[in-house]
Amino acid sequence: MFAVYAESFHDDDPLAGLVLGDRPEPEVPDEWTTVEVRAAALNHHDLWSLRGVGLRQEALPMILGCDAAGLDPDGNEVIVHSVIADPSWVGDETLDPRRSLLSERYQGTLAERVAVPRRNVVAKPVGLSFEEAACLPTAWLTAYRMLYVQGALKPGDSVLVQGAGGGVATALIALARAGGLRVYATSRDEAKRARALEIGAHEVFASGERLPVTVDAVMETVGRATWTHSIRSLRPGGAVVISGTTSGPELDDAMLSHIFFRQLRVIGSTMGTRDELAALVALLDATGTRPLIDRVLPLDQARAGFAAMASGDLFGKIVFTR
Ligand SMILES: NC(=O)c1ccc[n+]([C@@H]2O[C@H](COP(=O)([O-])OP(=O)(O)OC[C@H]3O[C@@H](n4cnc5c(N)ncnc54)[C@H](OP(=O)(O)O)[C@@H]3O)[C@@H](O)[C@H]2O)c1
Repeated sequence: MFAVYAESFHDDDPLAGLVLGDRPEPEVPDEWTTVEVRAAALNHHDLWSLRGVGLRQEALPMILGCDAAGLDPDGNEVIVHSVIADPSWVGDETLDPRRSLLSERYQGTLAERVAVPRRNVVAKPVGLSFEEAACLPTAWLTAYRMLYVQGALKPGDSVLVQGAGGGVATALIALARAGGLRVYATSRDEAKRARALEIGAHEVFASGERLPVTVDAVMETVGRATWTHSIRSLRPGGAVVISGTTSGPELDDAMLSHIFFRQLRVIGSTMGTRDELAALVALLDATGTRPLIDRVLPLDQARAGFAAMASGDLFGKIVFTR
């Protein structure tokens, strides 16, 4: 079958190891099923994989992609949950030390078909297109858990979203607005700041610009470039929820004095559970909030999508269709 896969790792030039071509049909163990992929979304995770972060050399070649929406063997429209827990694990699968995401241990979604455990499919409502549904399993689920599970934010609370243009960041802005939060966002780019206002931010600022208020929580996916600003922007007792470090994990100043003196909380967050994905799907179905899609490309033009993400030239999700 046709697939988009990583053949080798290149830290400086991730696209050098990206191949579009033929791969074997997925193996389907007991208790697993196959999904015919109609749409699959790109995540920064796929670029990290091509750089050799989170993917082992022995696992190559590996079909990339964590997100998919498509048809199960009975023709039902489904969304794929990407977190694969150990079969013996009970409870929140994001806490299973042996968990993996599709495309880490098991072949990913940028292909004609993908195999997943049966419990990893969630029904797709008819009101969501395949393209919209494909945006949910990684970026949107991560944003949902950051805001409402790890961040425990309630209507009326205030939140700052760093780096407005990204897949997770656009999800954070739209979901925060849908949940009744007061939403502030930053971006390096003026046009992206204007778009952030259109999708739900109340106020936008240049990266690093001081906010007029301090906020209850900051949503961090940028890391080194925004960390100091995130810590400075919190009210005493506020929380920074972090799920990524796009600009790098090493900090010039961790702001430790600020953190203890103002009694701030630093909370990690990663992906979400199957039940949280189902709750997110229900939220979108009920509210009409929809994922922001930067562009839709045929899967055989995936290289252009990877290049756009590598250069930061996007606002929202890049989706591939067949
Ligand atoms: N833990 C998890 O479960 C999980 C799940 C999903 C994603 N992630 C991580 O979250 C991060 C974002 O993922 P994504 O798929 O949303 O990526 P993306 O679509 O490529 O977004 C990258 C964002 O980072 C911002 N950015 C990049 N460099 C910056 C810099 N030097 N200064 C300020 N902002 C900068 C950009 O903001 P502007 O261009 O607007 O300034 C853009 O919004 C990645 O590191 C990814 O690995 C983690």
